[in-house]
Amino acid sequence: MLVALGKKIFFDGRLSEPPGTSCASCHDPARAFSGGHGSRIGVPLGSRPAHFARRSTPSVLYMRYVPKFHYFEDDEAPAPEPRGGFFWDGRSDTLVELARQPLFNPDEMNAGTPRHLAAKIAGGPYAKEFRGAIGPSSDPEAVLRGVGVALEAYLKSDEMTPQSSKYDAYVRGQATLTEQERRGLETFKDRRRGACSGCHRLAETSSNPAESVFTDYGYDAVALPRNRDLPGNRNAAHFDLGLCERKDKTNPSDDEKWCSSFRTPSLRNVAVRQSFGHNGVYKTLREVVKFYALRAVAPGRIYPAGQKFDDVPPKYRANVNIYAPIYNRREGAPAPLDDDDIDAIVAFLGTLTDSPYVQTREPLKGSLALPRRAPPGTARLRPAVMVAGPVAQSPSR
Ligand code: HEC
Ligand code: HEC
Repeated sequence: MLVALGKKIFFDGRLSEPPGTSCASCHDPARAFSGGHGSRIGVPLGSRPAHFARRSTPSVLYMRYVPKFHYFEDDEAPAPEPRGGFFWDGRSDTLVELARQPLFNPDEMNAGTPRHLAAKIAGGPYAKEFRGAIGPSSDPEAVLRGVGVALEAYLKSDEMTPQSSKYDAYVRGQATLTEQERRGLETFKDRRRGACSGCHRLAETSSNPAESVFTDYGYDAVALPRNRDLPGNRNAAHFDLGLCERKDKTNPSDDEKWCSSFRTPSLRNVAVRQSFGHNGVYKTLREVVKFYALRAVAPGRIYPAGQKFDDVPPKYRANVNIYAPIYNRREGAPAPLDDDDIDAIVAFLGTLTDSPYVQTREPLKGSLALPRRAPPGTARLRPAVMVAGPVAQSPSR
């Protein structure tokens, strides 16, 4: 009952100002609950024209596995490592509390005040169901909390934890990978090459999906190139600092060593995303994998001339991870992945697409709007492809 109520709230376009933008507008069910809401600059459009969220939209499938923010202590790690928390910077620990952020963010749903929201719930089609599940109180804060409780139940439900990808079938022994996918998996795990699984964790020998979320929920400064299409980035002094901007005082992460680190995203359903990384700078999966292959050995092909790590303020560039196997090569050295390896990893990542999205290949509705300027240094890359599914991600050099 709570799950069904949470689902109605999630899809309710009446809650935004002006009306028309629901949670599902950005967390689009056709895109495994991620998406741009018609924006192609890499971050989604809010309920008002020309108002954009600050970061790209993560999928909200598999939310039940996201742990609270904490420091992980491991005998092998030199110091405790930050893990978990919702959002790219881990700033929220519960879905109940989180709900208020997209609702009242003026660049997202712009829903006004808890009082406005409570009035809409009370006057809406599921008012009775809401009172039955949450209680009769009309106190705006109590209603807002009820909205959070229902949304949490929906986001943590079985429906939002589908485990219906080819990879899931493979670990259950019910599917075989193609030659290329298998090679992609090997490269993804290979400690001397991709070493992707060091952060994007998986356990092929376990059919427990909690062990294959393709993230350890840890944080890393990957140094994606700056997305010059973001309105905030017109100011050259503006930087998104990620984890060190998180405000929690009891379990703080404001030490400067955490600046420019972002939470490692799950790669489940990654192939149906419209944009990648916290700043949405890349629009195809292949570009992201190529970024990893070239960042250390050919930075000139990733960043504008002379501006290596251009989305990290100069004083924090020492935070950038240059130690992981994929990055620890000298400039000019052979790339750790060649074109065939990149294609194989992309093919493997396509196996992480849950079955409802595999067929999503028709152009998606609501694509619009903004002329896309190619950021300097990426001019040779293809424009955003407006189709979903692993097929759309096939070789595109
Ligand atoms: C305008 C687009 C937009 C709308 C509308 C929107 N979101 Fe989001 N959502 C985002 C973006 C962008 C982020 C990432 C923000 C960040 O990390 O700072 C996000 C992050 C999240 C996360 C965290 C996921 C994770 O992996 O940590 C959850 C959960 C979430 N949203 C739920 C909701 C719910 C529930 C609603 C409706 C009440 C909603 N969102 C409405 C864009 C949107
Ligand atoms: C040291 C940890 C680490 C390693 C190793 C690593 N990643 Fe990541 N990955 C991250 C983090 C952190 C992000 C988010 C970066 C950001 O947004 O600034 C990310 C983002 C991504 C994304 C974008 C996903 C999305 O939802 O936007 C993809 C795709 C990806 N990684 C694939 C790979 C592949 C393929 C490899 C191996 C070649 C790899 N990663 C190696 C930590 C890592």
